[in-house]
Amino acid sequence: MPVKKRDFLSISDLSVEEIHALFARTEELKKSRFLDAFKNKAVGLIFQKPSLRTRVSFQVGVWQLGGQCMSLSPAEVNIGVRESIKDAARTLSRYLDLIVARVFKHREVEELGQYSLVPVINGLSDSYHPCQALADIFTVKEKRGSVNGLTLVYLGDGNNVCNSLLQITSMLGMNMKVACPKGYAPNKEVLEFAQAQGKKTGATIMVTQDPKDAVRGADVLYTDVWASMGQEREAAKRAKIFKKYQINKELMGLAKNNALVMHCLPAHRGAEITDDCLDSPNSVVFDEAENRLHVQKAIMLKLAEGR
Ligand code: CP
Ligand code: NVA
Repeated sequence: MPVKKRDFLSISDLSVEEIHALFARTEELKKSRFLDAFKNKAVGLIFQKPSLRTRVSFQVGVWQLGGQCMSLSPAEVNIGVRESIKDAARTLSRYLDLIVARVFKHREVEELGQYSLVPVINGLSDSYHPCQALADIFTVKEKRGSVNGLTLVYLGDGNNVCNSLLQITSMLGMNMKVACPKGYAPNKEVLEFAQAQGKKTGATIMVTQDPKDAVRGADVLYTDVWASMGQEREAAKRAKIFKKYQINKELMGLAKNNALVMHCLPAHRGAEITDDCLDSPNSVVFDEAENRLHVQKAIMLKLAEGR
C-alpha cells in the first residue's frame, strides 16, 4: 500500500513524541552533516515574501543531504496569481520530491498541501512559522538540557512566530507568557489549543499587557519584529503602540540572570530589541539561526520517509 504523504504546515501536525524524536535526530544530524539520503531528489522552495535564513538553510540542508534544490521567487512563479495554487501544486508534484513554501495567507500553503502529491513544508505563513519554533525550542533544550517547566516570555506582536511558539511550548510542558498591547494578542484558536495542551502537560499559558510583570523570573525572553512582512505600512503606528514591549537592559534585569535572549531574526535593532541585549552573552539568536539548518534536515528526512 502506498504511504500517505505528510505535510508540515503547523506544529500541531506533529505529536509530542514526534517532536522529541525530531530533536534527537537533529542532535545526530548536527554532529554528522553529510548524508546521501536525498540523492536524486529535487526540492523546490517557493518564496512569496523575502527570506535569508529560510532560503539559505533549506538550500544548504538539501545539499548536505545529497539532493538538488531550487528557489522560485514571485517573479518566476507567483503562485495563485500567474496560475492557480491547485495547478501549480499538481504540476510541481511531477518534478519535485518536496516543496517548501513561504506564503501570505495560511490557506495558501494548506491548498498547496491539499493538491501536491509530495510533502509540503510551511516556510512561514501569516499564521505560523513552525520551522522557526522547532529550531527555537531545540536551541533552548540544547542550552538547558530540558525545556519542561521553564518559562518563555514573548514580548510584542502576537504573530505567526508567537502562534507557533505557543503550540510547541504548551505541547512540551514549557510555560509561556505573551506580553502584548491590547488588540495584538495571538490567535484565539491557537490560545485555546495551547491551554488545552497545557492541561495535559502542566504548562501554564497566559496573555498580559504588562511587560514588566511578565518577564519577572523568566528563563527565556523572546521577541520578533513589530510589523511583519506584509504589514510594512503599519510600521510607524505600531512602533508607538509597542514601545514599552522593547527588550532592553531594564526589562532584562527583571528576568533570571541567565535568561536566554531570543529573536527569530531579522531584527530591527533599537526597536523591539536594543543592541546591548541582542549582542549580550545571554543572546542565542545565531544559534537559533544555525539550528534552522539542522532541524529542517530532520523534518525533511522524516517527511521523505513518509513518516
Ligand atoms: N527567521 C526567518 O525565517 O528568517 P528569514 O525571513 O530571513 O527566512
Ligand atoms: N513575524 C515575522 C517573522 C519573520 C521571520 C514576519 O512574518 O515577517
